[in-house]
Amino acid sequence: MKVDIFFTPYEVNEENFKNHVAVVVDVLRASTTICAALSAGAKEIIPAESTSAAIQLAGNLSRDAILLCGEREGKLVEGFDLGNSPLQYTPALVRDRTLIFGSTNGSPAIVKTRLARYTLICSLVNLDAVVQALSETDEPVVILCAGKIAQFAIEDAVCAGKVIHELQNRTGRDLELNDGASAALILFDRYRDLIPSVVMDSHHGRYLSEIGMQADLPFCSDLNRIPLLPVYHDGKITLSETKTLPAKDERDKLK
Ligand code: MLT
Repeated sequence: MKVDIFFTPYEVNEENFKNHVAVVVDVLRASTTICAALSAGAKEIIPAESTSAAIQLAGNLSRDAILLCGEREGKLVEGFDLGNSPLQYTPALVRDRTLIFGSTNGSPAIVKTRLARYTLICSLVNLDAVVQALSETDEPVVILCAGKIAQFAIEDAVCAGKVIHELQNRTGRDLELNDGASAALILFDRYRDLIPSVVMDSHHGRYLSEIGMQADLPFCSDLNRIPLLPVYHDGKITLSETKTLPAKDERDKLK
């Protein structure tokens, strides 16, 4: 089984995802927030390429039908209903709602994978569910780290390395790794017992603390707190009810 990791969306183009299963990792915070929103009962999440694209998308829909969500520089955008703190996504606010979600790095990374067969949204909070789904496919996998404004983000790389480590352990398979995946595995091994500190001390972790969002950091580091599998397909993120990928022929029918 072939598994590639790219540390920023700038290393890949959309064509690289064709006939692959994609995984998008954005520990701080888009992937974590998406897991939290779906766990709180949101019906579906439509990721946008940017906050401006989210505003445009929302403009084409009845404002009562959707919640406009996301961030710019980590903060709530004027006119948005919710920001990008996973703690804000409570059942009282999001249950059964459609969310339009625009963020700086996470949502554009997700949209970039739209030619993939399926995209799994991955963070530390749902890592085990993602590994379980990957262990049941033999299709090639591309793991895309959202990074931070075109730069490497260590918390995403360590999370992606842990996915590879767990996948190897669970399946006993020899994985064919690109250099990014080998490097992520080494990083995970170096920090395996220090993941909350990696998140806290990362560049973006320190920035979030500076802007008063430090309460998000333990949430985002809480391994397998949300054992759910958000899947992006056909422009929407919804929960996979089985926590595994549908069989290949079923997916082909959906195409
Ligand atoms: C992003 O998508 O860039 C991040 O999730 C930023 C953030 O922490 O809000």
